[in-house]
Amino acid sequence: MKVNQAEFIISAVGPSQYPDDALPEIALAGRSNVGKSSLINRMIQRKNLARTSSKPGKTQQLNYYRINEDLYFVDLPGYGYAQVSKSKREIWGKFIEGYLMHRELLKLVLLIIDLRHPPSKDDQTMYAWLKHNDVPMCVVTTKADKITKGHWAKHVKIVRETLQMAKDDPLVVFSSELGVGKDELWAMIEKEIDW
Ligand code: GTP
Ligand code: MG
Repeated sequence: MKVNQAEFIISAVGPSQYPDDALPEIALAGRSNVGKSSLINRMIQRKNLARTSSKPGKTQQLNYYRINEDLYFVDLPGYGYAQVSKSKREIWGKFIEGYLMHRELLKLVLLIIDLRHPPSKDDQTMYAWLKHNDVPMCVVTTKADKITKGHWAKHVKIVRETLQMAKDDPLVVFSSELGVGKDELWAMIEKEIDW
């Protein structure tokens, strides 16, 4: 995909604010600070369109980014951020659950996992929930630059086993820092959206 135009559209706090131009949507899920916003920036080759932060919990709404006239990236709030109150977490949870289950324009969820560590309990819950609800998904293991390439396969194996992924469930190794996995992930996305 050649990205000619990438634009922040809206931070949606409810369904009435979702865009209504019927473009396919690719959502990014993952725990706080895992690198969701950085991944968007790398995919569109912009330094800081999607706001990133070394402080977790930065993204609290559904942030819509329109790419050309082709699709939206939807940056979801990160889960597993302990400093957010429980009641607030529950409201987010319902909101995001509703989006993931009922948004017809949603073509693919990128579940972002830190390649360095075994998936957390929250990651495992998220993966199982998406699978159970038949939400099309691709696991993306990011921050690959933080480990030597020779160890990637070992880490991928741990991720696959911990999430109990099936053999043919897709997984892309990624680094927002280096751009590793970018073309492979674009190919995956293009396969899922109708042109
Ligand atoms: P929330 O919006 O809080 O849920 O976080 P997020 O998942 O959007 O994470 P974000 O993209 O803001 O990145 C968090 C931190 O990780 C930042 O300091 C990034 O620079 C760093 N980071 C993200 N991806 C990578 C990567 O591939 N490699 C390296 N080395 N650092 C990364
Ligand atoms: Mg973010």
